[in-house]
Amino acid sequence: MTADLNVGAGRESAAARTLIQLTAVTKRYQGAPAVNDVNLTVEPGDAVAVMGPSGSGKSTLLNLIAGLDRPTSGSVLVAGERVDEMGETGAARFRRREIGMIFQFFNLLEDLTVQDNVLLPAQLAGVRHRRARAQAGELLARLGIDRYANTYPGRLSGGERQRVAIARALVNSPPLLLADEPTGAVDTATGEEIGRLLLDLNHEGQTLLLVTHSPDLAARYAKRTVQLVDGEVISDTVAAGRPERAQEPRP
Ligand SMILES: Nc1ncnc2c1ncn2[C@@H]1O[C@H](COP(=O)(O)OP(=O)(O)OP(=O)(O)O)[C@@H](O)[C@H]1O
Ligand SMILES: [Mg+2]
Repeated sequence: MTADLNVGAGRESAAARTLIQLTAVTKRYQGAPAVNDVNLTVEPGDAVAVMGPSGSGKSTLLNLIAGLDRPTSGSVLVAGERVDEMGETGAARFRRREIGMIFQFFNLLEDLTVQDNVLLPAQLAGVRHRRARAQAGELLARLGIDRYANTYPGRLSGGERQRVAIARALVNSPPLLLADEPTGAVDTATGEEIGRLLLDLNHEGQTLLLVTHSPDLAARYAKRTVQLVDGEVISDTVAAGRPERAQEPRP
């Protein structure tokens, strides 16, 4: 499954700038904040694992970055744009262009074929059908699921379904991939495979933010680990053996 799919092709200019910048971000529902005064910077090409106990704010953090949720205070800058200031339509358009998302339970549309699931974000983004189909075909082949193009997701295994979800997340070549417990609903071996796939993508330049409960997965498939407790970042460490990303004070 090593291949040369040019993830994020044509986005060279984005490579020069910080991809995610959260400044003093707080999200409060009721009671204690779900995310509390978080500052976080992610550069293009980073692979960051977000860890922390249940309820520590991991999903909220991802949703804030994706513009699915708005902070109570602070600013969220992604690819140079203020996501926290976008309206719903603007945020949806922004996501289609800049962000791919994958989830624990895949969120595939059961009454669409695998190929049509993967094509959907491209259609919504107005990509020409021929080009979208070529891109989808390439991704399905790359992920080893091209034989299921005309199959409905219900007939696939958990690992295969997650690969469909990954193809769908990548079809518009977004610079940023957000993964919320992508291995939470699959067995260990399949989790390994998904982890390795995400690592391959990262090696090709795909920026990755991965929420996981597995320290093992985080250690092996992310260069950097951000630890949340009660909505606060309590540590932000870079894996040993990667001195080029040695920890630096974060603004
Ligand atoms: N839409 C919402 N309305 C009210 N409270 C919410 C909402 N979303 C999250 N919360 C609360 O915010 C806190 C953080 O939730 P979040 O889902 O971000 O945690 P998490 O770290 O992703 O947990 P898990 O590991 O269980 O997925 C929790 O206390 C949760 O109850
Ligand atoms: Mg969560």
